[in-house]
Amino acid sequence: MSPKTSASLALSHLTTSIFMQTLTTLYLPENQIGDAGAQYVSDALRHNTTLTTLYLCHSQIGEKGAQYVSDALRHNTTLTTLDLSYNKISEKGAQYVSDALRHNTTPITLNLSGNQIGDAGAQYLRSAGERNGNLKLWF
Ligand SMILES: *[C@@H]1O[C@H](CO)[C@@H](O)[C@H](O)[C@H]1NC(C)=O
Ligand SMILES: *[C@@H]1O[C@H](CO)[C@@H](O)[C@H](O)[C@H]1NC(C)=O
Ligand SMILES: *[C@@H]1O[C@H](CO)[C@@H](O)[C@H](O)[C@H]1NC(C)=O
Repeated sequence: MSPKTSASLALSHLTTSIFMQTLTTLYLPENQIGDAGAQYVSDALRHNTTLTTLYLCHSQIGEKGAQYVSDALRHNTTLTTLDLSYNKISEKGAQYVSDALRHNTTPITLNLSGNQIGDAGAQYLRSAGERNGNLKLWF
């Protein structure tokens, strides 16, 4: 089995457990799951889960991954802490996340430190924070 196939199998098992079990915290730091992994996690989050804390730091998540995660955040989730620190999220990624958070009214702490969001990305996030008083942002 190629490393890529086994990684994607592992991820599909993982995301199955996210909504089959009553997981509340999922810790995947340094997991290198990348954009494809972010897509699995995002799909899982859209189902009714009990997940409140998700650590995806150092996971090689880039602009596409940020977009997948944002799609999940557009809906109310059980998630109250999302750590996306030390990924490869750019200004555009920060924009996706900011847009999504205008719709999500769940109180959430979002950690985007150690990314490359730039001044414009920081500005998008600040303005999302101003609109959504439930948001705690670290970047
Ligand atoms: C989500 O799951 C919980 C716990 O199993 C259940 O109480 C709740 O009704 C479910 N909500 C929806 C919208 O399915
Ligand atoms: C999220 O939940 C809030 C409060 O329960 C509700 O007003 C809002 O319509 C929900 N939004 C979505 C997209 O489900
Ligand atoms: C955000 O991530 C950074 C780097 O991983 C960490 O030092 C910081 O404590 C985190 N902040 C929160 C609120 O979790």
